[in-house]
Amino acid sequence: MSDPNSIFHRMRDVLRHTYFFQSLKMHELDELIGGLRMIRVQKGYEIIKQGDPGDAFYLIASGRVSITVKKGFRTGKVAELGVDDFFGEMALISNEPRSATVTAEEVTELFVLQRKDFDQILMKNPAIAQEIRKAFVERKTKNK
Ligand code: CMP
Repeated sequence: MSDPNSIFHRMRDVLRHTYFFQSLKMHELDELIGGLRMIRVQKGYEIIKQGDPGDAFYLIASGRVSITVKKGFRTGKVAELGVDDFFGEMALISNEPRSATVTAEEVTELFVLQRKDFDQILMKNPAIAQEIRKAFVERKTKNK
C-alpha cells in the first residue's frame, strides 16, 4: 500500500515546481494539497465533454490534451495544451456549460481542483486570478 505521507510530499514537490502555483506560500500549498486530487488518464480519454456542467479545474502535471469545439455540425480543434497548462476554468468562471471537449492525446497526469477550492485560490491570490481571467477572455474570443 502506498504511504499517504509520501504521496503528500510528492504532490508538494510537483506543485512547488509548477509555474502556476509559484506565487503560493508554503502553507497555502499545503492547504491546497488537501483539496487536490491527482489522476492519470489514458490516451483518448475524454476528460471534459462539451455541454456538461462544470465542477472542477484541471492542471496538467504531465502529458498533453487537445481541445475541440463543436459548432452546429462541425467539430474543430482549437488548441493543444501541455505541462503546466490549465483548463476547465471557463465553466467555473462563467457558470455556463463546458465550452469544449478536452481529450488526452497521450497518458496524462492531472491535478484536479474542485470548484470551492478553485474559488478560494482565486479569492486569495490576485496574481493567479488575473492569469486565469486573461486565459478565459483569450480563449472565449478565439472560439467565437
Ligand atoms: P471549460 O469551458 O470549463 O471546459 C472546456 C475547457 O477547454 C475550457 O473551460 C477551457 O479551459 C478549454 N478551452 C476552451 N477553448 C480553448 C482555447 N481556444 N484554447 C485553450 N483552451 C481552451
